[in-house]
Amino acid sequence: HEHMNMNMNMNMSNNKTPQKLLATSALPQGQDLPELVRLKNTSDKQGTFEANLEAKPVKIKLTPELTTEFWAYNGNIPGPAIEAFEGDKVKITVKNSIPQATTVHWHGLLIPSNQDGNPQDEIPAGSSRTYEFTIPEGNAGTYWYHPHGHETVAEQVARGLAGIFIVRSKKDPLASLPEQNWFFSDLKLTDKGEIADNSMVDWMNGREGQFVLINGAYRPKITVKSATRVRIWNACSGRYLNLSIPNCDVYLVGTDGGLMPKPIQLNSPLLLSPAERAELVIVPKQSGTVYLQSIGYDRGKMGNVPPEQDIILGELVLTESSSIALPSTLRELPKLGHATAHKTLEYTEVMDMKEPRGGMLFLINGKRHDMQRIDLESNIHEVEEWTIFNNSHMDHNFHIHGAQFTTVSHEVDGKKNPPKYEALKDTINLRPYEKITIKIQQNMPGLRMYHCHIIEHETLGMMGQLMVK
Ligand code: C2O
Ligand code: CU
Ligand code: CU
Repeated sequence: HEHMNMNMNMNMSNNKTPQKLLATSALPQGQDLPELVRLKNTSDKQGTFEANLEAKPVKIKLTPELTTEFWAYNGNIPGPAIEAFEGDKVKITVKNSIPQATTVHWHGLLIPSNQDGNPQDEIPAGSSRTYEFTIPEGNAGTYWYHPHGHETVAEQVARGLAGIFIVRSKKDPLASLPEQNWFFSDLKLTDKGEIADNSMVDWMNGREGQFVLINGAYRPKITVKSATRVRIWNACSGRYLNLSIPNCDVYLVGTDGGLMPKPIQLNSPLLLSPAERAELVIVPKQSGTVYLQSIGYDRGKMGNVPPEQDIILGELVLTESSSIALPSTLRELPKLGHATAHKTLEYTEVMDMKEPRGGMLFLINGKRHDMQRIDLESNIHEVEEWTIFNNSHMDHNFHIHGAQFTTVSHEVDGKKNPPKYEALKDTINLRPYEKITIKIQQNMPGLRMYHCHIIEHETLGMMGQLMVK
């Protein structure tokens, strides 16, 4: 039971002296933003995407002195980029060559529950399985894939298992724009270059590494030559990104579930909680080099943690000023009818001295995630409103599998507000004591997870199970 011991070590590490972390000056910075390696389609049939993924340990030399052992898909950090079209038949065989069970979850895609990498469907170490699904029409958007095993997601993502999944539409109103992908992840390394264990503070607030990477590179140099469509993923376990893109006009054109009805010009930083995605069109207003930053955002962290600081994520090289006339409408969102069912969720945090990791549990409706328990049931195709109440003093987010939802209202201190814009989301942030009501419809039967996507909170209980019948 090798992998059991490994888990125990990770869990119990808090009783040891804290690990020394690598100085941020130790990793090189300023390389050109790497392009993500593409996952090769092995099928030459029209409308079919077939490929192989292997989750395996890989040693990567980050500096001449430091070699880090990651767990990676096909040896790539981040995993290879998957690109497919609406309507495509996808068949991906995953070989599990890491020393513990895993699954692959296709975050945000509208696919059958038995192909969605639920923790109940683990691929044991040393085995393979094939995931097969058809991407429905209307599902074009910016997704990602990552493990979703039982209690192992935090470790497997921290070790490097995650990649992007873009679904394209054949009629895309922004197809003529140049595109970039910015996949944010963070890396926490010991002074020996090993992936660091989670500290108690990581278990409370969500893990944050000292290195924020974009496409696997530390503080890269990103060149923008003209109006560019940028897809952004926050694939960090616990880090919130509050992106500031200076000297550019920034338009929000898409969210988790694809394009929005119309572009929205942003006048403040773009907040992305863990697992959220956005599509922007950025238009340089003048030439020059500026910092891409995450602006300090107070999310009410626990423990002795200093307030969030602004951090530099990379350098943005704007080669010349540019302009663009964006289409005034991008897409019509599917209209859901009147909701005929209502569900309420309440997030709470409790201390638990028997919990060795951070001494805390994170609960939904007073309960800790249990793989054997169905928490909620929905009727297939029924339109529902869910109200999620964050009854705690820190930000959490809400993610659900199997559907994209729209937001009905935000409520803080009894004041209800409509959402700032219409959009399809699968992950949404909740401020402390905020109540959000969403409208959602599940269109396939089976078991679906919903949870906070601060992965440590999900591991420590903040996850529930929905049965769609
Ligand atoms: Cu990104 Cu339940 O997952
Ligand atoms: Cu998901
Ligand atoms: Cu949380």
